Amino acid sequence: MNVIISAIRHSGAGIRIFELRACRGDSLPSYQAGAHIDVTLGNGLTRQYSLCCDRPSPECYRIAVKQEPQSRGGSAWLHADAKEGDMLQIGVPRNAFALSDAAGSHLLFAGGIGITPVLSMAYALLRDGGAFHLHYFVRDEESIAFRDELTASALASCVSIHAGLSPEQTASVISSALAHAAADTHAYTCGPGPFMAAVVELASARLGAAQVHKESFSAPVADAGDKAFVIRLRDRREIEVAADQTALACLQAAGVDVDCSCEVGVCGTCRTKVIEGVPDHRDGFLSEEEKASNVWFMPCVSRAWSGVLVLDL
Ligand code: FES
Repeated sequence: MNVIISAIRHSGAGIRIFELRACRGDSLPSYQAGAHIDVTLGNGLTRQYSLCCDRPSPECYRIAVKQEPQSRGGSAWLHADAKEGDMLQIGVPRNAFALSDAAGSHLLFAGGIGITPVLSMAYALLRDGGAFHLHYFVRDEESIAFRDELTASALASCVSIHAGLSPEQTASVISSALAHAAADTHAYTCGPGPFMAAVVELASARLGAAQVHKESFSAPVADAGDKAFVIRLRDRREIEVAADQTALACLQAAGVDVDCSCEVGVCGTCRTKVIEGVPDHRDGFLSEEEKASNVWFMPCVSRAWSGVLVLDL
């Protein structure tokens, strides 16, 4: 559906907040906190952005975009070319980062622009009377997005902002927050890869992996322990994926046609059926049940536990 950019404002260094209004007579689909939408930009690229409204509205969505020096074209266009009155095409909201109904309380950890889905979660918990605390980590004071809302609204007493911490100090704050968490607390994180990795490791050790949730919008970074594996196609052709390569890049280099869009594991476009083998799921698209069934594989981010992965390609 089409929406109009009805307002643009700056909030924190290099961050623009976009208000997207339904065209006359249209109604925007409802969504749960943590959801994101596909946005097709004026340069033809489609990118995924979390909805960060204070409350869901059928008339208006809000997204926030950081200007990335390594932009693959999305943030660059939204910062340099987008203007109020422009029309954009968006997809329906999807949510792989929802608040858990089973949680007795919620610990939210946001790093940098990762505040966007976490902000709507905090508002939802505030509205519903849920117990929560939001820890927001930023490079410096100038980088704080939504400062007015986080420090001067009803949210303020449930938010701690940490500016300019080293990785060790960050880990210490996370550990300390987790140390006081009840056993039925769920932890959520969105932000840069190393930051999320720290949260996931510490929270999983304290609460168990099933109570830890993350949302990633950055391109995959090779882990130190990543191993090479082989993809076998239906015609028995074999394609080697080195430890520092993505399966998608190797398939494309071999001339295999795989649809893709986000290339960060959130849109579902590259979903491919597994015939044999065990994927190492790293996407934010498949549900936990789908991941456990090993029926699908997302070649843009996921890897393989088995040495050979046979795909329906
Ligand atoms: S291209 Fe979006 S999930 Fe793979």
